[in-house]
Amino acid sequence: MPLTSKALSPETWPEFARLVEKHHGIFGGCWCIAFHLTGKEERRGAAAYRGMKQKLVREGRAHAALVFDGPTAVGWCQFGPTAELPNIRSRKAYEAGLRELPDWRITCFFIDRERRGEGIATVALREAVREIGRLGGGTVEAYPEDFTGQRTSNSFLCSGTVGMFEKAGFHRDRKIAMRRWVVNRTVARSRTKREASRA
Ligand SMILES: CC(C)(COP(=O)(O)OP(=O)(O)OC[C@H]1O[C@@H](n2cnc3c(N)ncnc32)[C@H](O)[C@@H]1OP(=O)(O)O)[C@@H](O)C(=O)NCCC(=O)NCCS
Repeated sequence: MPLTSKALSPETWPEFARLVEKHHGIFGGCWCIAFHLTGKEERRGAAAYRGMKQKLVREGRAHAALVFDGPTAVGWCQFGPTAELPNIRSRKAYEAGLRELPDWRITCFFIDRERRGEGIATVALREAVREIGRLGGGTVEAYPEDFTGQRTSNSFLCSGTVGMFEKAGFHRDRKIAMRRWVVNRTVARSRTKREASRA
């Protein structure tokens, strides 16, 4: 069945939640909340993070491109306006070399452990970029790892690989950790159907 994509929303929340629950909350109960926090909050448990994430989704303050195989969500790429995702990794090094904050960040991926190595993260990234275009476009940053020509643990790659971002039109900007890069590109606002039909 061909893969399709939908935005994370109250409508797709049940499939997102099913995939997280299948993986025991992900990363010991993160529920994909870590990048939404400032990093200064007290640690809370999986149930609290689930509730926080669902609230953000309801309020339109959590974005992700979910990839579906038929009715089943098999992975996602999280993205959002920079203020929505303040908590990036290697933040000290990032801030030391910061010139200007981007409009958008792409922070993490998660693919069903039974479906890895099939190109699903690559599809999720393409769809996240497309969704950013639909939401108005602008400058986009991500913070992937450079393991070119090497294999590593899948859990080290939650922010993706530099290679997959380069294939999606991103450029290396600067290094912020041993293998972690800031990569960026500009995404054009996509035309609405009405604008396209007028052109
Ligand atoms: C890392 C991950 C996103 C990759 O998803 P995937 O669907 O298997 O990736 P793809 O098949 O689209 O491959 C994308 C690229 O990553 C590379 N890649 C994937 N897994 C890799 C690994 N373990 N080591 C090195 N490279 C790897 C692929 O070779 C491919 O490179 P290419 O573009 O140069 O061909 C997936 O393994 C995952 O979800 N890991 C867990 C992440 C996690 O814990 N997230 C939540 C916490 S924030």
